[in-house]
Amino acid sequence: MPRQSIELRIRRQDSPTAAPRWEEFSVPWQPSMNVISCLMEIRKNPVTRQGRTTTPVHWESSCLEEVCGSCTMLVNGRVRQSCTALVDNLPEGPITLEPMTKFPVVRDLQVDRQPMFDSLKRVHAWIPIDGTYDLGPGPRMSAEEAEANYVFSRCMTCGCCMEACPQFNGRSEFMGPAPLAQVRLFNAHPTGRLSARERLDQIMGRGGLVDCGNSQNCVEVCPKGIPLTEAFGELGRQTTVQWLKLLFQK
Ligand code: SF4
Ligand code: SF4
Ligand code: FES
Repeated sequence: MPRQSIELRIRRQDSPTAAPRWEEFSVPWQPSMNVISCLMEIRKNPVTRQGRTTTPVHWESSCLEEVCGSCTMLVNGRVRQSCTALVDNLPEGPITLEPMTKFPVVRDLQVDRQPMFDSLKRVHAWIPIDGTYDLGPGPRMSAEEAEANYVFSRCMTCGCCMEACPQFNGRSEFMGPAPLAQVRLFNAHPTGRLSARERLDQIMGRGGLVDCGNSQNCVEVCPKGIPLTEAFGELGRQTTVQWLKLLFQK
């Protein structure tokens, strides 16, 4: 018999500095609900299971199809996108929702992923081009190379890998797995390769590749199946070559 209602236990926090608290809700079950549709039901009628009127739960989402990464949170303790967390696929019993723990909480389930975006800036995770005039056709890339690179371009900066990484935390300067993987992507591009040195310089410094403890947690949780640790192996080779070049230039 399908369940009649869905119980949720949600970690609430009114502001970045407010103390967190837990609230429980019950919403009517409907076919094909996901976690976000439960939150939308709560927003219509923000009353706890105990009958107390409260504020609507705050969360972030955009694409609703696991492309933007903005709805990432802990669902029953596991970091994932809430838009693709279908209620009927979750175990019976209350669904626990919490914000990610490695990023500052903005409010309730929304976090500020800015530290990850700052690291992407730090490693120059883009291809520098002058858009003021037509450069003509770019360098060609083989189909095999394009396919190998494509998988890294699927990163949606959701932060799952950062949440799972034991080395990425408030006590460490480690930039985390997602920005490193983007160095692998942009250094492989025929135009991006021209500025590979700038990117490698960034990951050879404090908080860079050497801080990875190789626990492999990041690969386990990446919803896009990005081979992060393969990227780190490749970056290890690239940084060694760079280091040798610098040594012999002295
Ligand atoms: S391999 Fe482990 S330590 Fe390295 S980035 Fe991934 S989760 Fe973090
Ligand atoms: S590498 Fe995977 S887990 Fe990490 S931010 Fe990108 S998509 Fe998310
Ligand atoms: S809303 Fe975009 S990934 Fe969930």
